[in-house]
Amino acid sequence: MKTVSVSAPGKIILTGEHAVVYGYPGIWATTDKRLLVSIKRTNQKLKIISNHTSIDFAKYSVMKIGKLIGKNVSSLEIKIKSTIPVGSGMGSSAALAVALTGALIKLNDLPWELKRINKIAFEIEKQQHGTPSGGDNTVVTYGGFLKYQKQKNSIPKFDKISSHKKIKNLLIINSGKPQETTGEMVAKVATLYKNNQAQTNKIFSKIGDIAQKLYHHLNMNSKIKTQKLIKENHKLLNKLQVVSPKAQKIIKKIEHIGGVAKISGAGGFLDSSGILLAFHNKPKLLTHLAEFENLNTIPVVLGVQGVRVE
Ligand code: PMV
Repeated sequence: MKTVSVSAPGKIILTGEHAVVYGYPGIWATTDKRLLVSIKRTNQKLKIISNHTSIDFAKYSVMKIGKLIGKNVSSLEIKIKSTIPVGSGMGSSAALAVALTGALIKLNDLPWELKRINKIAFEIEKQQHGTPSGGDNTVVTYGGFLKYQKQKNSIPKFDKISSHKKIKNLLIINSGKPQETTGEMVAKVATLYKNNQAQTNKIFSKIGDIAQKLYHHLNMNSKIKTQKLIKENHKLLNKLQVVSPKAQKIIKKIEHIGGVAKISGAGGFLDSSGILLAFHNKPKLLTHLAEFENLNTIPVVLGVQGVRVE
């Protein structure tokens, strides 16, 4: 029996999280942490082995994808292996949705169409997160750096950014896994929005401006101070109450030594806020701070290839 293997990368959000749910642009990048799905046909009932996710959710996803592609998925052995941290803003659920979709498409000899893979993965993401923007699954599918903007007609609008060498001096620091899920954090911001639309919209719009500036910087070489934008972005995310006191404290310490940092992804308020993107012109100072504070750092290469057959 042939085994089909498909992998998909994790991701970070450079800027635009939360505002993107309301139609503003955001900047996404893939990372070299990957998730691998291997599938073979068997004579027994569906079996899933995973070091990554709840087996129940993987099972639900397999059934749903089977329905969407019109294929029987009942006698398969599926292995899921991942190096992407779970539930911390690094795109582990999107990588699963995309790699699983790709693997089932390949196993059934259907055409390898990224547009279709992305569309199906988005359906899985909706089950997991409620009202996702679609940015995670899109960057994980297409790879590289993207400016992503959600559209009313749910056809994703994105621009690939070709030049990305200008993201310098970045260190990812893990503030810890949030207690809340992405869906809960999106709902928390929705309540804030409902209670004060004008004020919250202003925050979203400012975040959207930051994404636009970063896009021009990355794509067209416009001269901007990236670190100033990240600092501003953090302040705005703080106003949305998606940065926990614990993460705020870490970010203050980073700012104190001359760096800047922000959450990346949905964040978290009750305890930890997931990963932080930290920048410093002398990155060694960040490494020392993380060591001193006993915080994990996650080395990544940005802008790698999206979903692929292995
Ligand atoms: O925490 P993550 O990696 O799932 O990112 C969520 C980003 C949000 O903007 C908060 C939601 C979304 O769907 O874009």
